[in-house]
Amino acid sequence: MSTTGATRVAGVIGDPVRHSLSPVIHNAAFAEAGLDWTFVAFEVLDGDAPGAVAGARALGIDGLSVTMPHKATVLEALDRLSPTATKLGAVNAIAREGTEFVGHSTDGAGLIDALAFDEGFAPEGKTCAVIGAGGAARAVILALADAGANSVIVINRTPANAEIAALLAGRVGVVGTEDLVRDADLIVNATPAGMIGNDTPAIDPTLFHSNQLVVDLVYAPPLTSTIQAARAAGAHAVGGLGMLVHQAAHAFTLWTGQEAPLPAMSAAAMAALAHGRR
Ligand SMILES: NC(=O)c1ccc[n+]([C@@H]2O[C@H](COP(=O)([O-])OP(=O)(O)OC[C@H]3O[C@@H](n4cnc5c(N)ncnc54)[C@H](OP(=O)(O)O)[C@@H]3O)[C@@H](O)[C@H]2O)c1
Repeated sequence: MSTTGATRVAGVIGDPVRHSLSPVIHNAAFAEAGLDWTFVAFEVLDGDAPGAVAGARALGIDGLSVTMPHKATVLEALDRLSPTATKLGAVNAIAREGTEFVGHSTDGAGLIDALAFDEGFAPEGKTCAVIGAGGAARAVILALADAGANSVIVINRTPANAEIAALLAGRVGVVGTEDLVRDADLIVNATPAGMIGNDTPAIDPTLFHSNQLVVDLVYAPPLTSTIQAARAAGAHAVGGLGMLVHQAAHAFTLWTGQEAPLPAMSAAAMAALAHGRR
């Protein structure tokens, strides 16, 4: 569908952002759904997010994804936050509701959907370990607790950050050491360990075993050192592309009011990754 005078615009603000898969995923979704929308990447420097949001309002932009380094600093420019975004103090999607710009956090829901739809895994009653205590980890910790996990063990190189992140899980939140990974049904790596240029596994590979599901939030490269180590130990291990696509699906629905065309979004993301995009 070519761009017209009626084309509606959504986009992502971040820096760096030129590597982002979001334009590929969302433009595939708009095309599949037959919507006259387009999605672009806006390179917005650290500190400029409030100005970018003011510009988006003036331009009539209908939806924004928000990535590093703006997930917290963008809050001051918004009219309202969803309950999840309020708890996390972070936003990864902004939707226009009438005249208001409303901040949402769809990462945690994206992980829960990826677990359910792609792996047939429900966190309810399960022991979960999250490696990391940054923005992605916090969204995951809150979502796992809300989904009924029996315990959410937070393991992080800086224990003080783990303490803060574990509070999000309420009474099921525990700060732990790496050896507790052995007891976990689900292990989520929410650190950049294993990303391109950093090939050390997120945790000691001898802690993995065959009764575990391991999700590495890193999706470039698709086969990280953590995934390889977990699979070698007999665990079922997957990368972060599922969460990325499902969090985008939530944003798509917030913006358009329609169910997201997940197969088209996944196919576009996988094709872009295979061609070296990230
Ligand atoms: N698949 C998805 O949809 C998705 C979504 C969001 C993020 N992610 C990925 O998740 C990862 C984390 O992102 P984020 O936004 O949460 O980052 P962040 O806020 O910067 O947090 C990074 C976390 O990783 C820890 N860390 C950083 N480098 C480490 C290292 N070399 N070894 C061990 N721990 C390390 C940090 O520990 P300290 O507390 O000690 O600093 C912190 O807990 C990134 O790889 C990102 O690409 C994926």
